[in-house]
Amino acid sequence: METKKILVVDDEPSMRIALSESLKSCGYKVETSESGADALAKFQEGKFEVVITDMRMPGMGGMEVLRGIKKISSGTPVIVITAYGTVNTAVEAMKEGAADFIMKPFSVDHLESLVKKVVAEKGRKGEGGLRRTQLNRSGHDLKRCLPREKTIITRDEKMLALLELLKGVSKSKSSILIQGESGTGKELIARYIHRHSDRANMPFVGVNCAAIPGNLLESEMFGHEKGAFTGASRRRLGKFELASGGTLLLDEISEMDIQLQAKLLRVIQESEVDRLGGGAPVPVDVRIIATTNADLKKYVEEKKFRDDLYYRLNVIPVRIPPLRERRGDIVFLCEYFLEKYSRLNRTTTPALSKKVEQMLEDYGWPGNVRELENVIERAVLLSGGETILPEHLYLESEGEKSGQQALTSAVSEGITLKETEKRLIFETLEKVKGNRTRASEILGVSVRTIRNKLNEYKQGSEIGDQVSGVG
Ligand SMILES: Nc1ncnc2c1ncn2[C@@H]1O[C@H](COP(=O)(O)OP(=O)(O)OP(=O)(O)O)[C@@H](O)[C@H]1O
Ligand SMILES: [Mg+2]
Repeated sequence: METKKILVVDDEPSMRIALSESLKSCGYKVETSESGADALAKFQEGKFEVVITDMRMPGMGGMEVLRGIKKISSGTPVIVITAYGTVNTAVEAMKEGAADFIMKPFSVDHLESLVKKVVAEKGRKGEGGLRRTQLNRSGHDLKRCLPREKTIITRDEKMLALLELLKGVSKSKSSILIQGESGTGKELIARYIHRHSDRANMPFVGVNCAAIPGNLLESEMFGHEKGAFTGASRRRLGKFELASGGTLLLDEISEMDIQLQAKLLRVIQESEVDRLGGGAPVPVDVRIIATTNADLKKYVEEKKFRDDLYYRLNVIPVRIPPLRERRGDIVFLCEYFLEKYSRLNRTTTPALSKKVEQMLEDYGWPGNVRELENVIERAVLLSGGETILPEHLYLESEGEKSGQQALTSAVSEGITLKETEKRLIFETLEKVKGNRTRASEILGVSVRTIRNKLNEYKQGSEIGDQVSGVG
């Protein structure tokens, strides 16, 4: 099969490079134009599968490019690139027949899937009758695409102060290390920083260091030349180069192996990368944001993470508090997700029953905002738009309220400390259905301590049965 050719139109050189390199790496041929006029000329000459054009360009703007292309070949899908805050132009473009739009900053993955999608749609529809369908589709598509720039929902003082602070530091090029439990919104914050930086119109590229095996991660980050290793059939730019001028998100940095850490440090210090099997180093201008849900300091102490890299990355340390440390956000986020999912499911927005509200507020949320979003999504489906009741909630481990809660019920007047401890352990075990590991996490002791205590109680035996009835 013939390789599909894409025309990229952008007046910004680094944007052109980033776009064309990422498209090439997924197997497309790419031609670029730095102006609308040049693009239309090239389009007359050649055969292109898809056109991707920036909206705001000096001289001929994206809208005119779109109209011009449609005049020459109404069946060629055109994807327009818009910037944050200019949604209206995207709407206009969809009305004029754009196949879809992509909002800056965008991820390479999103771009890739979008191109695949419009190519597939073109295949399905054939060359005729495209415009009309697109017109009808536009509203729907916008809804699907818009939430990519997700809003950060919070009314927590700590979070609000953090966002304010980040707005300021976004402008610098300093590396930022974002620490927080899984699902607290680290990626969301990383995108927020990018959006508030001078790099907002440049690429935002992410690499998940945990998802890619160690040996592949190096070429993923730094790229490789053709023939660098068996199977390297063409040159591939690394994420550093793709992020050029923009921001590179190194997700789950704690999982990067120690040798690669040394190379990363060099790249950050020298602002240049060596492609695998390549010649001269390539200069890169990239802002690094790293995230981790591990205690990176501890990794440093345990020699699993280089201390020099740690200090390099941690120029601006950011810690996102877990949801249980910002309880005021729980119901606030619930309301937001209720609204979101009832809109998506086309039901009325359900209310929370008082009991449910209390349950949500008391729960420990080990999976943080992500877990809350999933819980609400499911509840909206199950309740069918009616008031949400306890039976609509599926909380991972019902008993996992904070240790604080468990304590309150175990404590009562006239009971000794030893006895309280025993009750607390039994009560916690009951709530986590006998899972000693979870119980030890909740109570902040080792599993061994729990086991020893249980043995102790067995031998002393008198209140075991009585206590397990509590709760
Ligand atoms: N304050 C918030 N407002 C709205 N949505 C949020 C908020 N925080 C997190 N989310 C949503 O929760 C989900 C998880 O967020 P995100 O991926 O940023 O978390 P993370 O900390 O990177 O998680 P992980 O460590 O698992 O990668 C996303 O769908 C995100 O949009
Ligand atoms: Mg993440």
